[in-house]
Amino acid sequence: MSWEGRDRGCGTLREDDVGYSLTLCGWVHRQRNMGGVCFTDIRDSSGTVQVVSQDDSVGLDQLRAEYVVRIKGQLRMRKDPNERLPTGKVELVAEEVTILNTVNVKLPFLPSDEELDVKEEVRLRTRVLDLRRPRMTKNLKLRHRMLRAIRNFLDDREFLEVETPLLCRSTPEGARDFLVPSRMQPGSFYALPQSPQLFKQMLCCAGVERYYQIARCFRDEDLRSDRQPEFSQLDMEMTFMDQNAIMSLVEEMVLAVFNEVLGMPVQRPFRRMTYAEAMTSYGCDKPDLRYGLEHYDVSSAVQGCTFRVFSSALEGEGIVKAMRVPDGKRISNSRLKPKGDISGEAVAAGAGGLVYIRVGEGAEIDAAKPVKEGLSEEQCHALLSSTGAQPGDLLLLAAGEPAVVHKALDRVRQYVAADLGEIDESKHALLWVTDFPMFEWNEEEDRLEAVHHPFTAPNPDDLEGNGAGLRGARALAYDLVYNGVEVAGGSLRTYRRDVLERVFDAIGLSREEAKAQFGYLLNAFDVGAPPHGGIAFGLDRLCMLLARESSIRDVIAFPKTAQASASTKLRSTLHNSPFAGWNA
Ligand code: AMO
Repeated sequence: MSWEGRDRGCGTLREDDVGYSLTLCGWVHRQRNMGGVCFTDIRDSSGTVQVVSQDDSVGLDQLRAEYVVRIKGQLRMRKDPNERLPTGKVELVAEEVTILNTVNVKLPFLPSDEELDVKEEVRLRTRVLDLRRPRMTKNLKLRHRMLRAIRNFLDDREFLEVETPLLCRSTPEGARDFLVPSRMQPGSFYALPQSPQLFKQMLCCAGVERYYQIARCFRDEDLRSDRQPEFSQLDMEMTFMDQNAIMSLVEEMVLAVFNEVLGMPVQRPFRRMTYAEAMTSYGCDKPDLRYGLEHYDVSSAVQGCTFRVFSSALEGEGIVKAMRVPDGKRISNSRLKPKGDISGEAVAAGAGGLVYIRVGEGAEIDAAKPVKEGLSEEQCHALLSSTGAQPGDLLLLAAGEPAVVHKALDRVRQYVAADLGEIDESKHALLWVTDFPMFEWNEEEDRLEAVHHPFTAPNPDDLEGNGAGLRGARALAYDLVYNGVEVAGGSLRTYRRDVLERVFDAIGLSREEAKAQFGYLLNAFDVGAPPHGGIAFGLDRLCMLLARESSIRDVIAFPKTAQASASTKLRSTLHNSPFAGWNA
């Protein structure tokens, strides 16, 4: 065993270093023997460099992939430079090769496999090997640079980084809690925080005027490609700032992150859209604005038609919406009929199916017989003018309850955009969605519920009614959406007792219940709470998008597998393994 050092990182060598005797350490990335000349790429965290030897006695040809080695040699210019490698102009002529460690198992894949086609399960099981892949190393570095840019930016603006407890009372954000049993009080449990929401508001009350934390959050919810049960937030809270000031500061920070991580600026101010506008035009509260395919409410255009699908929806509380696809001949009828893939997307979202209408060269309508016969000339005309449809366009329509129609057309929009190659991958579409609803109606319990949490401030203009009268109230809440993914969410908070009590009354939360759930914060409000508001970024999601990865797991060193939360193995390994659930 030896712990000798090295002179340089493999990936740092350039023409200026030629002629020097150097010692390098690293892993064998690639190995090839060509007519008595052995070429070995050595990799360390700085990159790779080519090592060469024609002398068998040096032992370069004895190396195998992923062996750990120390190599002494002299750097020279390469005869066949590799333009794609930063070190591609030079190579080390090996003089002494020391094997520091060998590989003792058959490797399921090699870090040098650029076109890796290995199951994620295998990658996660051998995560050490997976993280050695240049793509994953790059992602870890990108994440580090993202965090550094955030910290530098916030530090320059007088933010204070404060840590808050992990073992605490429930901090609800709408998911289930993870619980930790207390040894001191048998039968009692700590909850792991779903976010530091209550603590950061208490810090504002304590006079910390600009707080931030890179906070670990825990939510027991189903996993998706952009969701983990354990994830990181950039959590921020500020006093004495209005919504515009908060949004503006956040935009500046995003700009700094983009500059640092991608080396490119983004356009400011970011686009803004109310929740209501987003739902009307895109059927979702996080539309991807890299492409069009907007939706139009055509309920009034087709009102009174005899086509059953539309008329029966409009008899109740339903709506009819249309999505306009320019140059509609790119999509064949078979894909829109009941067994077609596009219609299948609408059905998977809960709709009965998809209705399609083609606009001919003379702006005449072509559609299935019952649709054509069910629409008067006037209604056809209204349909075209309310969607702005042009000759050659295709209209895809869904009818029914608003929630179902929105979900179906949103899904169809995303599917069609990807299918038609409408997504411009070079675009960075940043969007604020504002004015979220404050409450939603809980049918089962016949009462209002806070959409976010009760501390989100309702829009003062909407506080006139009582009980169900508050149903349409808007919240002073905002989300930041990046290429169709919600990367951050926040709000201004209610900081006055009287307003807070109105909200508690509206959602039927008794004073006792409020005290039990949010007692600490309520006490803090009683001793002089300043106006405050904040936001939290999902850092894993942001990093995933900046790295242009499609899974959050590719930017987290040790993520949970998709099965982690349900695995029985998880339970049995929970006490012994630091990676419980991760490698289950
Ligand atoms: P919210 O619940 O919207 O707000 O969360 C903020 C951001 O965190 C990210 N996020 C997640 N990322 C990965 N896996 C998950 N399971 C997950 N859940 C959420 C999202 C989201 O936009 N306390 C409030 C913030 C505030 O009001 O200041 C909160 O937690 O990107």
